[in-house]
Amino acid sequence: MKEIFDGVYKDGNRIFTENLIPGKKVYNERLLRKGNKEYRSWNPYRSKMAAAILKGLKKFPINRKSNILYLGVASGTTASHFSDIVREGMIYGIEVAFRPMKNFIKLCQERKNMLPILADANKPERYEAIVESVDVLYQDIAQKNQVEIFIKNMERFEPKHGIIMVKARSIDISMKPNQVFEKVKQEIKKHYEIEEAIKLAPYAKDHIAIFV
Ligand SMILES: C[S@@+](CC[C@H](N)C(=O)[O-])C[C@H]1O[C@@H](n2cnc3c(N)ncnc32)[C@H](O)[C@@H]1O
Repeated sequence: MKEIFDGVYKDGNRIFTENLIPGKKVYNERLLRKGNKEYRSWNPYRSKMAAAILKGLKKFPINRKSNILYLGVASGTTASHFSDIVREGMIYGIEVAFRPMKNFIKLCQERKNMLPILADANKPERYEAIVESVDVLYQDIAQKNQVEIFIKNMERFEPKHGIIMVKARSIDISMKPNQVFEKVKQEIKKHYEIEEAIKLAPYAKDHIAIFV
């Protein structure tokens, strides 16, 4: 087991995080015991962040002290791996839909470094009072105006790093995904310097991860 980034481990061609709650699975991932530690397999087909790492991400902007604002946290699949990593940080999980939020709330009862917030990411003014300092903004929202939501939240919380998982088909189904990716990059470049852009196929088709 080799640590490739802060709190992210690789064994063969799989990646792992160290389980914050040993013995407990979050989404039926594999648990692996090595020495006195337990690791959770991080599935790239279930988590776009894992896909970006396996597709060659160079710089991972999250460490054990990071505070993360997570837009579109759903049931917490990816957030649970962040929670394994940010042992001295906090994850503010924003989700607009009640159903996935119910599962996320259960997860937050065990994992004390995550806070559930039922809110619309279009309206950061609704949660800005709850969210303290943000080091990393992570967004995974399949909406037509996903770039607008990202810029709006970046401007309001001014994190050091921003990550957006872009789904081309939600922005324009009539355009080729590569054209959508170029359009999105041009839009983001008006505001921020792009550090890395990684296409997520075959793990997530027609998606690109953009790091600023
Ligand atoms: C692709 S899923 C997220 C999966 C999750 N990020 C993971 O990797 O575990 C997208 C989520 O964004 C949520 N969403 C869509 N529009 C939103 C909005 N305006 N504000 C907050 N969440 C939103 C959806 O309800 C859905 O749960």
